[in-house]
Amino acid sequence: MRILFIGDIFGRPGRTMLRQHLPELREVRRVDLVIANAENAAGGFGITPSIAEELFDLGISVLTTGNHVWDKREIVPYIQSADGNPHSPARRLLRPANYPAGAPGFGFYEGRAGDVPYAVLNLQGRVFMGGNDDPFHVADALLKQVQAKVILVDMHAEATSEKVAMGWYLDGRVTAVLGTHTHIPTADTRILPQGTAYQTDVGMTGPYDSIIGIQKELVLQRFLTNMPARWEAATGDVHLCAVVVECDPGTGRATAVERLIVPGHSGQTL
Ligand SMILES: [Fe+2]
Ligand SMILES: [Fe+2]
Repeated sequence: MRILFIGDIFGRPGRTMLRQHLPELREVRRVDLVIANAENAAGGFGITPSIAEELFDLGISVLTTGNHVWDKREIVPYIQSADGNPHSPARRLLRPANYPAGAPGFGFYEGRAGDVPYAVLNLQGRVFMGGNDDPFHVADALLKQVQAKVILVDMHAEATSEKVAMGWYLDGRVTAVLGTHTHIPTADTRILPQGTAYQTDVGMTGPYDSIIGIQKELVLQRFLTNMPARWEAATGDVHLCAVVVECDPGTGRATAVERLIVPGHSGQTL
């Protein structure tokens, strides 16, 4: 079984890149299941119901998010519309599972890709991030409920150490632990000894002529002067960053993992 996991889709440039490349990628790579982080899909900040549906229509089965999930307020009733409605598309848009009790939505999804049951678990780190529940213990609790063997974890976190820690903690218990949030792909793609595929950050699918997606002049001004700035999404040098995980559908263990970086028109490599 082959799973394509796409890193943080950033704004319209990221969505356009996906529309252009995803159909061919799915075919050439013989992909059975597509998962993507969409926390920045709407202009770099959050996601709207119509963008979620646009991404589902491209063949993405499950969307994960992170700290930007609530940036567009209209996503709250959309996510809430999945309550008691397990077959609605909204149920396949996740927010991190370790958000405080009472937060809308779900951090976990179980579905089927053809005959194969799979699960997606969305977690958020605590180091240099907002106050969430402990992602390690939340992962333990959720994994006890899971029926599927094929389990993908989006570990949305700032600190490399916390992501690596989660990889080792879940090694042998899930198919892959893939990091998101920092928007830069890391070169540590590997299969851990007990069969869990791992990469600290998948990288964003968006504009790299930027500072993690935002126009670089604005972010530089902030660093240079410490003055507030209105963030605007960048548009140039768009790359699609993803990871392809191949696994045994019977055991859920990864058998191969590959970092994928598809350059846009500039042809530059990252
Ligand atoms: Fe992000
Ligand atoms: Fe994030």
